[in-house]
Amino acid sequence: MARTSAVTGAPGQEKLHSLLDLILGMVDRHLPQMNSPGAHSLLWALWNSAFPKPVGEIFTGWLRHDVDLNDMSTAVDVLLLDAEWRRDVEERFWLSLLSPSSRTGTVTKVIAKWAARVELPDWIHVEAGPWDVSKVEKNKPELAKYMQRFSSLEKFSQPASGNHWDKLSSVIEFVDQRLHHGVPQVPGTACELLALLETFAQSREHWLKVAGGAKGEVLEHAFASRAWAAFEVAVECGTFVGYSASRLGVQMHRRGGGPATARVMTVEVDPVQACIARHFLDLAGLSQTVEVSIGQVKDVLPRAVESFGAMSMGLIFMDYKGSIFHTDLEMLENIGAVGRRCVEVADNVALPGAPLLLWRLAFSPSWDLTAYAMMEFFEPNTEDWMALGQYLGPAGDPPPAPASWQRLSWHTDHMRRRACGLRPTEGDMFEADRVAYSRHVRRHFLAAGIEAILWCGPVDREEDP
Ligand SMILES: C[S@@+](CC[C@H](N)C(=O)[O-])C[C@H]1O[C@@H](n2cnc3c(N)ncnc32)[C@H](O)[C@@H]1O
Repeated sequence: MARTSAVTGAPGQEKLHSLLDLILGMVDRHLPQMNSPGAHSLLWALWNSAFPKPVGEIFTGWLRHDVDLNDMSTAVDVLLLDAEWRRDVEERFWLSLLSPSSRTGTVTKVIAKWAARVELPDWIHVEAGPWDVSKVEKNKPELAKYMQRFSSLEKFSQPASGNHWDKLSSVIEFVDQRLHHGVPQVPGTACELLALLETFAQSREHWLKVAGGAKGEVLEHAFASRAWAAFEVAVECGTFVGYSASRLGVQMHRRGGGPATARVMTVEVDPVQACIARHFLDLAGLSQTVEVSIGQVKDVLPRAVESFGAMSMGLIFMDYKGSIFHTDLEMLENIGAVGRRCVEVADNVALPGAPLLLWRLAFSPSWDLTAYAMMEFFEPNTEDWMALGQYLGPAGDPPPAPASWQRLSWHTDHMRRRACGLRPTEGDMFEADRVAYSRHVRRHFLAAGIEAILWCGPVDREEDP
């Protein structure tokens, strides 16, 4: 809600704007040293404080001074967030800026589909060429420390590395070549898409992390556990390529009471992944049912109250960074977004873990918790938990979580970064590491008296085909 309160004039806002103005002046004097994370942080701070000058104008001002777009490209999600917030027509232009840095043919084609062939103007400077070590040093100081040690840094710089785009290109090609062409049938084509993504996930070293198998079943069970009113919406936090968003889209189509109710909103911070998800949803015939919004969950979701109304969220599926689930959920409760008997579904609660969310659902009088245990999708030895909370209405906060749980939450982030290759000196996470870490996290839960029910599959429902 930070931006909304900023718009209405938060205390100290004038001082903050003066400080940001000062920083902008300094950046203008040292523009060649600007890097992508710096541009991102500054634009986000300007946006979040409702700075009077539009972030898009500031950004294009930098590009007009011959700054390489590649040095700024990760800031594009803030520009898209702003454009969507203001329902601005410039969205296509910002999308077109993603192409040069995504490099590979298929990803670029998908971006072009949404950028609607907007050409980059000649004042935009892009240094073409292969992976450039000096850029890595400039943009990823943490990784640059390991330059001597590793011959191929690309492997360790997901997402947004060349390697990551190559992998995503292969998913797009796999689906595009196999999915039935022609007018999509709902839900038939969407089910075909889901099956293709599952086949891909199984066949390619399991790097495509989607909520398939038992996890998808739990999500569908949560969806079907409540009656949907015409104004309600299912919200997903963490879209990736749109697998679980499509699953929710199919459920909404089947059980939501017809097209008038068919509303799923999914939020993805990575704009290129958002474009890929939009592409798949479009192929599956679900683009009228599922809306992909770009930005961080905490920035985008307050807009859902404006768009759909108070108490409109009937289901909230959290599948992104487990250590912040609880703060984002608390924000949604505080702004009145959570609907009557809304179901909160959280993935990866035990691996790498979302302890503070579990604490909230278990001990807040506003929530009734059921936890399910299952094996990870295509990892038969690795146990994870999903948490389902049913909203009982605003009834107060839980007692504070113990310090050991706070420390555990901090440590889950460390494991998350390690799993993405961002802790190269500690090595990759192997199956044994994951099994052991899940056990370590679950020990905390069991010690607090929180147990999970083994997920044994969906109960047949009459209306299921
Ligand atoms: C595990 S993937 C989601 C998978 C997806 N739910 C599925 O099963 O098909 C997590 C996604 O969350 C995105 N993400 C991470 N932090 C985010 C945030 N704060 N806001 C929005 N998206 C975020 C990541 O870019 C990534 O694509």
